Amino acid sequence: MKAILVPEFVSDPSTLQPSDVSPPTPKPDQYLVRVTHCSPQHADILHAQGKHQNNNAKKGWCFPPFVLGYDFAGVVESLPSDGKRSVFKKGDQVFGAGIGAFAEYVCVPERQMRRIPKELSSETACAMSGQAVSYASVVNVAKVEKGETVLVSGASGGLGSVCCMVAKAKGARVIALAGDSEKAEAMRKDMAVDLVLLMEGDWIQKVMDFTNGEGVDVVLDNTGMVNDAIRCVAYFGRIVVLGFAARKGVMEDVKMNKLLLKSVTVMGYRFGESGRRYPKTLEEIWDGYLNMLKTGEMKAMIYGNYDGLEDVGRALKDLYDRKAYGKIVVKVADAQEVAKL
Ligand SMILES: NC(=O)c1ccc[n+]([C@@H]2O[C@H](COP(=O)([O-])OP(=O)(O)OC[C@H]3O[C@@H](n4cnc5c(N)ncnc54)[C@H](OP(=O)(O)O)[C@@H]3O)[C@@H](O)[C@H]2O)c1
Repeated sequence: MKAILVPEFVSDPSTLQPSDVSPPTPKPDQYLVRVTHCSPQHADILHAQGKHQNNNAKKGWCFPPFVLGYDFAGVVESLPSDGKRSVFKKGDQVFGAGIGAFAEYVCVPERQMRRIPKELSSETACAMSGQAVSYASVVNVAKVEKGETVLVSGASGGLGSVCCMVAKAKGARVIALAGDSEKAEAMRKDMAVDLVLLMEGDWIQKVMDFTNGEGVDVVLDNTGMVNDAIRCVAYFGRIVVLGFAARKGVMEDVKMNKLLLKSVTVMGYRFGESGRRYPKTLEEIWDGYLNMLKTGEMKAMIYGNYDGLEDVGRALKDLYDRKAYGKIVVKVADAQEVAKL
């Protein structure tokens, strides 16, 4: 089959092109899924570059040679062989996260995929497969309440855009932070947020002005800006650390006295591990998240047009260059196509 193989870590993931590799062999608890769509995310770039915690020699699982990719939509090709009752049957359309998803086939355990609701296209399901984390960060972690003010960093990105939509749907006032003026302009048009701020100059003062000098109740931080967040969060405010997209692997030092002086709560949230430890809560999160999509309370924001695994390199480059806005989805195959395996 064709797949985006990483034979060794690369500095420029846009150079990655499809190669011929052996199709993956499912473990006894895994389904084989024929991939119809895949969606690159920030972590894929770090995986390919060898800069992610998953590349850690002691604790990680991501070492060359490996097939890149995580988020996918596709069609069930074969069921697990462990003899347990399977939730999905051959031909079901599913979406989720599977290691090595930038490929024609991927192996996925049941807990990492879901049926595509009839209201959603495969493209939409794929675009939204990685952002239940954003829903959970707003609803379960920050517990955002109606009338609160929420600041979102990396708001144009996959996680950030969904953080904004969920917080708005929960009745919050939302301030979205953008990295450049072109994106900020697009976000003002396309996103139903209350204020879009370019992260330059006196943006923190603008946040304070917008909140009458009080600061925001909640910061959802996707880029790694806790020190800035402390400066513009309200007394007793909450900061949720979701990611470090802007930190290039170098973490911030935070002065603890600043937290004490404002009685600030900083919370980290690791979606995958939380789901493994608390599967019942994970199901509630998915139900709530998918419900918002099914009812149209939230819509996928899909950027550009990417067709075939040959376009994965270009997709990674656009993500890396911060051109992308919302989510990139790469079409790999038609859902109806006759399987080759
Ligand atoms: N906590 C969890 O369980 C979890 C789960 C999945 C992902 N994550 C992490 O969450 C973060 C966001 O993920 P994502 O999928 O939303 O990423 P994404 O789609 O690439 O979005 C990241 C956003 O951050 C902004 N940004 C600012 N500086 C950047 C820089 N130097 N490089 C790249 N982007 C920069 C960009 O917006 P502007 O260009 O407008 O500034 C971009 O839209 C990542 O660190 C990811 O690893 C965490």
